[in-house]
Amino acid sequence: MAKIAVIGLGYVGLPLAALCAIKEYDVIGLERSPEVVETLKTGKSHIIDHEVELLLKDAHLSGHFFPTTDHAELSACQTYLICVPTPVDENLEPDLEPLLGAIIDIAPHINKGDLIVVESTIFPGTCESIVLPLLEEKTGLSVGNDIHLAHCPERVNPGDSFWTSANIPRVVGATTAEGTKAAAQFYSSILGGEILNVQDIRKSLRPKFSKTEDGYTESQIPLGSVTMMRSIRDAEAVKAMENTVRDVNIAFVNELAKISDALELDVVDVIDGMTTKPFGKGPFFPGVGVGGHCIAVDPEWLKAASMKAGYMPEIIQLSRNTNNGMPAYTIRLLQDALNDRGYPVNGTEIAVLGVAYKKNIDDPRESPFYEVKSQLLAKGAKLKVYDGWVKHENSVDSLEEALSGVKAVLIVTDHDDYITRVKQTNLADLGIEIIIDGRNCLDGEAISEQGITYIGVGRRADLSAR
Ligand SMILES: NC(=O)c1ccc[n+]([C@@H]2O[C@H](COP(=O)([O-])OP(=O)(O)OC[C@H]3O[C@@H](n4cnc5c(N)ncnc54)[C@H](O)[C@@H]3O)[C@@H](O)[C@H]2O)c1
Repeated sequence: MAKIAVIGLGYVGLPLAALCAIKEYDVIGLERSPEVVETLKTGKSHIIDHEVELLLKDAHLSGHFFPTTDHAELSACQTYLICVPTPVDENLEPDLEPLLGAIIDIAPHINKGDLIVVESTIFPGTCESIVLPLLEEKTGLSVGNDIHLAHCPERVNPGDSFWTSANIPRVVGATTAEGTKAAAQFYSSILGGEILNVQDIRKSLRPKFSKTEDGYTESQIPLGSVTMMRSIRDAEAVKAMENTVRDVNIAFVNELAKISDALELDVVDVIDGMTTKPFGKGPFFPGVGVGGHCIAVDPEWLKAASMKAGYMPEIIQLSRNTNNGMPAYTIRLLQDALNDRGYPVNGTEIAVLGVAYKKNIDDPRESPFYEVKSQLLAKGAKLKVYDGWVKHENSVDSLEEALSGVKAVLIVTDHDDYITRVKQTNLADLGIEIIIDGRNCLDGEAISEQGITYIGVGRRADLSAR
């Protein structure tokens, strides 16, 4: 079995080190604090957490866990898991000292073929721009050729007896595809779950409901699974963004609490009531805009009531501003893509697919289509509009007519009927040069392979292919 080094034995590193030892890897736990090491050597945990204590007891019994402050003991380790703190300093700037200190400590022991994984939370780009050059400088080895550098952000939830280091699904990315595979295989060996590609999530594993005899079930990402991201930056971004999504949502329910005070409501009762709605809780996806008679309208009602009661809900207003600005943002993506290919918006034929505010319905109320149409017409574009569900805005009678003779296609609504047909059509043969996917519903790489510029909202085929 490979010998593992875990650097930093805190809330993240300690259960991970214990888990590796239980799986019969020899584990050197390198920790700066001598007090922590002394406690761990007796088989006791310096962290009060029932799950960690249980893991540590088994790790101690296994005889495979060796806590130490001496990095000389790292010799002959093949896998290095870095779990040091990544705090912010007094100016709220990332403090990289513990991470860089860990790299400097392990560097003298790293040999060809070793795998180095950063588990600490970092901002997108940290591994490639900061860790990689230091690692190469200190080891004299080439990352990606001689050694692998990967990021596998830890998601353990201290105090949670269900989601533990032993079963929480993980994501992993490295500087090369081989590195990602090596890291995924290692994590799968300790978690026991299957290895997935991020594309599998999109194709079949996004949580969805199915009817059962007793009601319904919601599909889950498999326990202990390891999902391979396309790049190390993507893996870094998963962690930074999933926690920021949480923070923004917590900020928002704090705003709801203030609205509740202004309107004399009990926010906890209201949130409990909200939890009975089984769908619509996420994941959320970006797009060309938010429409319909509910999401685009109801926040305005709540805002109005709150303002009347004396409290201005800033996050609602900011969210409305952001969402209302998405048609203009998407048109800018189109305009830039046309510009790159040497076409003005003025006079260029563009197919706009979709009028309804969401797929597979015939309701156009508050649809982003209207903003898209008026802005593009104001710039002189020649539009071919098609929607098989909402017909009164159509300027052509079929998808085929909409696609013929246009330079660019902008998808506003991802109705299944025509998106299935768009996927089956060779768009390049029709002379189409640009697809702006306002619903991120197409396979960008397949479209790019036809020589077409594919741009989604927050998604570019040329970047995903990195
Ligand atoms: N605590 C959580 O719930 C949690 C969850 C997911 C991810 N994370 C992330 O994991 C990382 C670690 O967090 P934590 O809560 O385990 O921190 P922690 O402070 O509990 O533990 C880190 C340990 O690393 C030691 N250390 C620092 N620098 C070192 C070095 N160069 N060499 C050896 N030991 C060193 C410290 O003495 C400390 O015991 C952070 O990036 C954090 O953001 C934390």
